[in-house]
Amino acid sequence: MAAKHVAVLMGGWSAEREVSLRSGAACAAAAERAGYRVTRIDVTRDIAAVLTALKPDVALNVLHGRPGEDGALQGMLEILGIPYSHSGVLASSVAMQKDLAKPLLKAGGVPVPEGKVVSRHEAAKAHVLERPYVIKPIAEGSSVGVFIVTREHEHPPQELTRPDWAYGEQLLAERYIPGKELTCAVMGDKALGVIEIVPTVKFYDYEAKYAPGGSKHLLPAPVSSEIYEEARRLAVAAHRALACRGVTRADFRYDDSLPGTKGLVCLEVNTQPGMTETSLVPELAAHAGISFEQLVAWMIEDASLDR
Ligand SMILES: Nc1ncnc2c1ncn2[C@@H]1O[C@H](COP(=O)(O)OP(=O)(O)O)[C@@H](O)[C@H]1O
Ligand SMILES: [Mg+2]
Repeated sequence: MAAKHVAVLMGGWSAEREVSLRSGAACAAAAERAGYRVTRIDVTRDIAAVLTALKPDVALNVLHGRPGEDGALQGMLEILGIPYSHSGVLASSVAMQKDLAKPLLKAGGVPVPEGKVVSRHEAAKAHVLERPYVIKPIAEGSSVGVFIVTREHEHPPQELTRPDWAYGEQLLAERYIPGKELTCAVMGDKALGVIEIVPTVKFYDYEAKYAPGGSKHLLPAPVSSEIYEEARRLAVAAHRALACRGVTRADFRYDDSLPGTKGLVCLEVNTQPGMTETSLVPELAAHAGISFEQLVAWMIEDASLDR
């Protein structure tokens, strides 16, 4: 039998292009090691024509941000009839839109931070929530455009009024959840382990957090087994609440000053999590005894239409 022909879709034109290129290079190499025939594609606006000519058996979607993470690419693959990895059209678009995802998560029994949608000018004029709180874009990733407003900040972030503000007119304001940062991956309806992410650079003032290499991963996360298992249970509940497929990764905050599991809240579900060899999902898979090649092969075999 001829080897399955896999198109690895990477790059694109989102703010997360560079990470995606690294994820794509790692996945393409792993797919080759696993015995697949691989074509690497840096996605541009002629992607439909490229795929129509190429006729791959499967598209391994390793894009981050738009259009690979928001359902647009998934819709195109449905129309072209090319089976693809990760979540489908609806789950992808809802998960990316945090204001729409939160009520669905809540309805699925997954606690989320209280908050509201505000305009960026409203958020710049006066404090929109009691401090401390967070202002963040509705549909960005990688902590881009996130502001933590502490009690020490007399005024709201003035960066929001900049004419070159690129993260939308509407923003999400949320109660700031102190404590730890946890993340858990789900692979086909089963939770992997839980990592605690410890930032090695602090959120200074209104500076956004994103600094590559600015964090340390603790696996297994040093929390009680009650919290560890609850994070795993909630990650699966979140995956199901948004009707996700394939692999996802849920981000949590855990306020360890609260009793029991009360302090655990879900920030978001990532439908296209990072896939470099040192990313969180491959690290969680390895911890569960699944090699990077096995993880990538699993994604390829799990690919389908009508997701
Ligand atoms: N309500 C919150 N309380 C505390 N920290 C938050 C909150 N919302 C976001 N953050 C911080 O900002 C980071 C990015 O937020 P997140 O909602 O995961 O968006 P994204 O990863 O898509 O940029 C989180 O990992 C966390 O460190
Ligand atoms: Mg996140």
